[in-house]
Amino acid sequence: MITVIGSINMDIAIRTDVFPKQGETVLGNLFTTIPGGKGANQAVAAARLGSQVQMVGAVGQDAFGNELYFNLKNENINVGGIEKTNNSTGIANILLHDNDNRIIVVPGANFDLDQQMIERHMDLIKQSSLVILQLEIPVETIDFVLDVCVKLSIPVLLNPAPAANYKPEWIEKVTYLTPNETECEQIFGTDYETVLKQYPNKLIVTLGGEGAAYFDGTKLVNVPGYKTKALDTTGAGDTFNGAFAHAITAGKTIEAAVQFANIAASLSVEKFGAQGGMPQIEKVNERLEGLK
Ligand code: RIB
Ligand code: NA
Repeated sequence: MITVIGSINMDIAIRTDVFPKQGETVLGNLFTTIPGGKGANQAVAAARLGSQVQMVGAVGQDAFGNELYFNLKNENINVGGIEKTNNSTGIANILLHDNDNRIIVVPGANFDLDQQMIERHMDLIKQSSLVILQLEIPVETIDFVLDVCVKLSIPVLLNPAPAANYKPEWIEKVTYLTPNETECEQIFGTDYETVLKQYPNKLIVTLGGEGAAYFDGTKLVNVPGYKTKALDTTGAGDTFNGAFAHAITAGKTIEAAVQFANIAASLSVEKFGAQGGMPQIEKVNERLEGLK
């Protein structure tokens, strides 16, 4: 059982040919509201691949909250750990332009995910073979969950995104840390190849279309990405994390799990929206077979 403790957002996506300059108005060419949030995205990615997934998180008592709750339920995710609070549902304002995306997240109810809420859902955490965290919930909650998981010997995958709230002491408490290249530099202040060597089989740096890299104790392993034409890269990292979690809890090696996750991410960017394009297991296996 995989437990995702994290954010649930409504993504408000706008596509435009030009980003407005300060004080300028431009016309966009697409507007849509579509489920997102790093926590929810990672939960959906793992569930679509066939993992049993439960989610602990918070939404507001508004229309978005309701929609997001049922979206997760429809993805066969156990939503028993999702609470409705008095804040408004988290939203992400996503501006898309070619291959560039710029996101502003307003956490709202996601910041109500506190220690008390975790304590109310301790039964879910205790059943977990892996707990997945990201950084769109309060840092105190991350601190608390990490201590609980260390105590119960439950492996943790921490996706340190956004990286601004990362605390250096967390690396000792997690099983896997999965920043992208930019986040890795933000966290460790140096290029990823130097840092990888310090955290063998733990630090996995995602490199967008180039795949991902880690250090296996003896050598740097670069697992190449699957080349594809990206339509929307929003949520590609989340797909990677959910798919990696699925593969690693299914008993794959780190290298095989990273390759599996790269392929899942390549499929996800071919469709619009963070959760659009997240594949079922058959699609990933088909692409894996094609590589042999
Ligand atoms: O990682 C992509 C996600 O980040 C989006 O779905 C958005 O909600 C933000 O949280
Ligand atoms: Na997508």
